[in-house]
Amino acid sequence: MSMFVQPKKPEIELWEGARAGLEAAVDYFGADEAHEFTKFGHHIRRLFDSEGPIYVDFPEPMSLYSYEHAVKSLTSKENESSKIRPLAPIIQEHRLFKSKAEARLMRESGEISGKGFIEIMKATKPGVSEQTISALFEYECRKRGSQMLAYVPVVAGGKNALTMHYVNNNQLLREGDLLLVDAGGEYNGYASDITRTWPVNGKFSKQQKDLYKAVLSVQKQCIKMCTEDNNNSLNRVHDESVGLMKDELGKLGFKLDKWDVDRILYPHHVGHYLGLDLHDTFDMTRSRKLKSGMVVTIEPGLYVPYDDKFPKEYQGIGIRIEDNVLVGKEDPIILSVTAPKEVEDIEYTMSS
Ligand code: GLY
Ligand code: MN
Ligand code: MN
Repeated sequence: MSMFVQPKKPEIELWEGARAGLEAAVDYFGADEAHEFTKFGHHIRRLFDSEGPIYVDFPEPMSLYSYEHAVKSLTSKENESSKIRPLAPIIQEHRLFKSKAEARLMRESGEISGKGFIEIMKATKPGVSEQTISALFEYECRKRGSQMLAYVPVVAGGKNALTMHYVNNNQLLREGDLLLVDAGGEYNGYASDITRTWPVNGKFSKQQKDLYKAVLSVQKQCIKMCTEDNNNSLNRVHDESVGLMKDELGKLGFKLDKWDVDRILYPHHVGHYLGLDLHDTFDMTRSRKLKSGMVVTIEPGLYVPYDDKFPKEYQGIGIRIEDNVLVGKEDPIILSVTAPKEVEDIEYTMSS
């Protein structure tokens, strides 16, 4: 392992803070050799004289054009670029399967965020702003060890929840509305990604409870599918979730046209892989069979627009329930279990 680092320079460190320097790269970070980062180009060119491919990871997902451009910038001779291979597919394969140590970190990440949810549930009441809830969630995560939030949270009171990526988070919470919060802290590099939906006044109305229990039932059945032995992919779980959602809505008196669920009421995927990134990683297909060690989100939702083809009493309600699930051979392990999810647990938390 060769590391290319900034050398120690007291006159710069006085302003910018301490640098590890070449010596610590070896002593502390365990590199076999360390060089000044300005020598990187020279060393890379030396590699081209050796046999075999050179795997390179460029910082961002790239179009084919910019990839070729970046490769050219590393090479000087015509035949050199053919030696370069992308490193990302190999790294992504490793990122898909969590080691025991990674699973522990993700459990900790989920636990911290789940406790943050308990605190923001307790702080919810009519007149409080979405902004306060957002700030409080970040505070509760960071005070428990999260270094930052994993993404900009969605804090959506009432009909704001009908906008999937609502991030304005600047309205006051109103009596009689639900509050949907999609938020997660990042802990030692690992994201959590949790959604809960609860009543602003602490008590679900009958309609809210009906719809909430429909989503909860679908979510729990989908989580059960997340085992290696069940031989499912995320896409398969999604297809199943759409069917289950149709059954639940039918029971509540919705008259559904063919595409109402997929395109209007539940227009997003049931989940994604989770890890160092929120959507981890960007080009990993969701048709892969779920295997032990993968971590996925399971996040079905319902968003009923103001359209009279849907029952009036449910219009304007948006609900999503999202957990982080470690796939096991026979059992799924819910990493975000500290965030209250049952109606009774939410109402109890809010009253305490
Ligand atoms: N928070 C983004 C997502 O649930 O995928
Ligand atoms: Mn989310
Ligand atoms: Mn998610």
